[in-house]
Amino acid sequence: MSPSTVITEENPPVPDLSPLPPDFLWGVATSAYQIEGAVHADGRRPSIWDTFCTRPGAIDNGDTGEVACDHYHRWPQDVSLMRELGVEAYRFSVAWPRVRPDGVGPVNAAGLDFYDRLTDALLAAGIRPFVTLYHWDLPQAMQDRGGWPQRDTAEAFADYAAVVAARLGDRVTDWCTVNEPLCVAWIGHLEGRMAPGERDLGRAVHTAHHVLLGHGLATTAIRAHAAAPASIGPVLNLSPIDPASDRPADLAAARRLDGHVNRWWLDPLHGRGYPTDMVATYGVEPPVRGDDLAIIATPTDFLGVNYYFRQVAADDPDGPAPYARQVPVPDVPHTAMDWEVHPAGLERLLVEVGQEYAPPRILVTESGSAWPDVVAADGTVTDPERTDHLERHLAACAAAVNRGAPVTGYFAWSLLDNFEWAYGYDKRFGLVHVDYATQRRTLKASGARYADLIRTHQRRTATVDPVAVRG
Ligand code: FCB
Repeated sequence: MSPSTVITEENPPVPDLSPLPPDFLWGVATSAYQIEGAVHADGRRPSIWDTFCTRPGAIDNGDTGEVACDHYHRWPQDVSLMRELGVEAYRFSVAWPRVRPDGVGPVNAAGLDFYDRLTDALLAAGIRPFVTLYHWDLPQAMQDRGGWPQRDTAEAFADYAAVVAARLGDRVTDWCTVNEPLCVAWIGHLEGRMAPGERDLGRAVHTAHHVLLGHGLATTAIRAHAAAPASIGPVLNLSPIDPASDRPADLAAARRLDGHVNRWWLDPLHGRGYPTDMVATYGVEPPVRGDDLAIIATPTDFLGVNYYFRQVAADDPDGPAPYARQVPVPDVPHTAMDWEVHPAGLERLLVEVGQEYAPPRILVTESGSAWPDVVAADGTVTDPERTDHLERHLAACAAAVNRGAPVTGYFAWSLLDNFEWAYGYDKRFGLVHVDYATQRRTLKASGARYADLIRTHQRRTATVDPVAVRG
């Protein structure tokens, strides 16, 4: 900061992000079903989310992803917005039901063409594409054949991954296999709050295994089919867990919730197999065959971490598995999702995961917050809570780097306000506001701040003495 800078409430000091490495990657993230709309266009067929949206009461206000941000048609403008923000990377997902509308069988050329054009436009804008292959939109036809509880779905996923890698892999070098298997298995198949809306512990455990297996198979498929060297990783949503009290029952509940949320995914991905305490808690054996565990632990290039909140656990013997209830933390800020604002949890997570599992690199593949944004009479959107959230979570990354965590990038969730799954359009996470009636995009103050932070980092690191960095 130059000495002449005046610090006011509108112009707060830049948080200390200096520990972030010079090549720290600044990105934004979205996912296909949440922004694309155009659900019937160019040969796309329904996904489980199209179906789930028709279930009465499943989605707030009866919202659907049918139009969303109409990104399928407005993507050139959205690429321009990213350019304006100055982001270096864009994490988006490819919709399996566009590329292989029935899950298996014929490839839909028009669907692939869309992502091909987007990739070219991003590269022309100097933005590195990070492609996520599964962000929850399973082709409904796959679901009709049994969905993730069936092993075939993992194999079909790897086949689809090969198709996408063969087409985009000469230009795309960064791949996320599956997004948040926890949500697919536990929220989609155990709690029923997301598509396909099932509540069955056995099917949920089978789903968990097949999503992880799909990740491992897809990793190998991408490496085999991408023309350019590929950097590949899974994306997990993780939460540090605290016990609600020091009662032994709550301590044990916190351990179970940690197993359910974190270890169930991290352990098998890092070659440790499924945590035996959790297999006992569920009372269901994952359907492991042959060398599945080795496939799941196929070495990857990075671990993607999505962080939104920590969890405080109390014993809940009569509740559903893992028999731990999340206890709200009083007197601290919560977002519009009712998620506690707790940036220290991100620092802790990055440090602890780095130490315990030693992934080669960690990318924060999602972090962000929803607030009840208001468009002012002059059309601007001032969102100080989101700005503060963003700065404090970036500062948490910097603090984690200082403590040795190999964090190499951050993707703000999200570029645009979008379809927030079961919460519909009411919950706005964007750095860019979307007026759904007109599809008008407006950069929020938080977006402008992100652009500032990116520029500041780039300016600072451009002048860093390379010898000092090497030393
Ligand atoms: C994550 C999802 C993402 C978005 C954010 C708010 O769990 O990956 O699609 O909904 O939460």
